[in-house]
Amino acid sequence: MMKAAIPSKALIIRINLIFLAFFLLIYAALLLWPSATVYHENAASLVMCSLRECHHKTEKGIKMNVVLEEKGGNQSKPVGKPVIKREKPSFLNEMGRRLKIGMVNMDEDDVSEWNEHGQIIPIYFEQVSKYFEWKDLFPEWIDEEEEIDGPSCPEIPMPKFEEYGAMDVIVAKLPCKYPEEGWGRDVFRLQVHLIAANLAVKKGKRDWSRKTKVVFLSKCRPMLELFRCNDMVRQEGDWWFFQPETDRLKQKVSLPVGSCNLALPLWEKGIDEVYDVSKIERGTKTVRREAYATVLHSSESYVCGAIALAQSLLQSGTKRDLILLLDKSISVSKRDALSVAGWIIRIIKRIRNPRAEKGSYNEYNYSKFRLWQLTEYDKIIFIDADIIVLRNLDILFHFPQITATGNDGSIFNSGIMVIEPSNCTFSIFMDRRKEIVSYNGGDQGFLNEVFVWWHRLPRRMNYLKNFWSNYSGEAYMKNQLFGSDPPRLYTIHYIGLKPWLCYRDYDCNWDLSKQLVYASDVAHQRWWKVHDAMDERLQKFCGLSKQRKIELLWDRKMAKEMKLRGDRWRVNITDPRRLD
Ligand SMILES: *[C@@H]1O[C@H](CO)[C@@H](O)[C@H](O)[C@H]1NC(C)=O
Ligand SMILES: *[C@@H]1O[C@H](CO)[C@@H](O)[C@H](O)[C@H]1NC(C)=O
Ligand SMILES: *[C@@H]1O[C@H](CO)[C@@H](O)[C@H](O)[C@H]1NC(C)=O
Ligand SMILES: *[C@@H]1O[C@H](CO)[C@@H](O)[C@H](O)[C@H]1NC(C)=O
Ligand SMILES: *[C@@H]1O[C@H](CO)[C@@H](O)[C@H](O)[C@H]1NC(C)=O
Repeated sequence: MMKAAIPSKALIIRINLIFLAFFLLIYAALLLWPSATVYHENAASLVMCSLRECHHKTEKGIKMNVVLEEKGGNQSKPVGKPVIKREKPSFLNEMGRRLKIGMVNMDEDDVSEWNEHGQIIPIYFEQVSKYFEWKDLFPEWIDEEEEIDGPSCPEIPMPKFEEYGAMDVIVAKLPCKYPEEGWGRDVFRLQVHLIAANLAVKKGKRDWSRKTKVVFLSKCRPMLELFRCNDMVRQEGDWWFFQPETDRLKQKVSLPVGSCNLALPLWEKGIDEVYDVSKIERGTKTVRREAYATVLHSSESYVCGAIALAQSLLQSGTKRDLILLLDKSISVSKRDALSVAGWIIRIIKRIRNPRAEKGSYNEYNYSKFRLWQLTEYDKIIFIDADIIVLRNLDILFHFPQITATGNDGSIFNSGIMVIEPSNCTFSIFMDRRKEIVSYNGGDQGFLNEVFVWWHRLPRRMNYLKNFWSNYSGEAYMKNQLFGSDPPRLYTIHYIGLKPWLCYRDYDCNWDLSKQLVYASDVAHQRWWKVHDAMDERLQKFCGLSKQRKIELLWDRKMAKEMKLRGDRWRVNITDPRRLD
């Protein structure tokens, strides 16, 4: 017989103690292990991915606190640094005497000479931490649909404005690290610009035309994004004299400090309700000198796309002009069709990228710069010809240059952007064509170097037709958006092979393994719906060339041999264009 082994009391206590100690350890580990919560956030965002918008950056959120922790002392306190004697600019004499002169970041400079013009008011502020990076202000991904906490921007320290009285002129020394790599995306440089702009708006005395006086000391040109070249009165050595319109500047400083938050919050509190535009202050000019525009150059392959874009814009109910810039490579019969479609045609001379290789596909992509020469308009909404508009975009005319959606890293997508035509801006582009290296050889890379401070639109306003993940949740969610009727997207941007270059039966991006990330039959059908609503005489311009039909046949054949995912090569083509 087995005698039940009765453990001694001491043993039981010992086992209990071991268990207790074990659980205490686990408990302590859970409490102290910091990445435990981070892990949960990541898990949460992965789950969210299936519900709304997907994204691949989840390790944000921790960074923002770090930026604010490290605080420098009072940067503006003169602490016996070597003082630089500077020649006064001559235009100072024209400003008169007894001036109140606000001085920002000027404590290293000997400004005693300025005393004869009036009273110098040093402006105190805390310099941004050196750990504060540009990507904290312009992150790749923001929680724009408020899946987690909603987007937020780190704070840029500002002076205590209420401690200062009115000023006749604001003088600021701008940091300039040129030609150091990445000098344009310097947070301290932006900080000084923003302080000067805020002072001008809040404390600057205005003349009869509501303009104030701002003077900069800088080796680099002050940021065009805040201080337009149109407002520049004089340049003398490193001195720059501006007379900006305060209302225009006021709107800019009322926007988020970076693309870390949406300039246009469309759906507060999870409701798909159109934002109340009256919350956004308008610029001074209320006259409607506004237009939509696109550009065609070098080939006719986007003519059908531009026709469909015009038709979709008209269907959105806009009353603005539709301007089409064309070069001579577009034939007269195609020009007529584009005009019938709704475009006002302007012939332009295309612009070469001097850094592009001869004959390359993007050799003339700087032609878009011509948009800035449309100076009979105050604002232009530029739209790429491979986009269709599903909802009215007129609200965008309330925003300054440049307002756009994010692309990747800190850059914006130039497929849809709000711009402000200006002859001097155009000249600056032309002057800098050789110097600026565009990361992709296109206008997007160039414009992102000139305009580093931009304002973010919701993705839904320039919704890219692509699937970055291999995750069925993303495809499901995006296809729901592409197909929604009434539309929830403002536009669809057809990156990849264009719908008019495929048979209408399915998206031909399915036939090439490299293009699979762009394949969506739902988005494809949405484009064809716009096509079918067009006049038959316009539809004629969306035919397939003999060459294109051969390519399509070949791609299908290869897809079949490779048994490509999606199986679209099995679909029998019924598109009547196969017989044309
Ligand atoms: C910074 O300057 C402000 C305004 O002059 C002053 O009130 C504050 O005490 C200063 N802070 C430090 C850390 O010196
Ligand atoms: C811009 O330049 C063009 C000629 O190059 C001129 O016709 C136009 O009036 C100018 N616009 C402004 C606002 O000065
Ligand atoms: C350049 O322009 C062509 C034709 O308009 C377009 O297909 C291409 O995507 C552009 N490339 C870049 C890098 O912007
Ligand atoms: C995506 O998933 C499919 C199977 O569903 C697989 O065949 C393919 O290789 C995957 N692609 C990538 C880039 O992971
Ligand atoms: C395509 O057509 C062939 C022959 O007409 C037929 O056998 C096949 O089932 C069709 N395929 C599909 C997917 O409809």
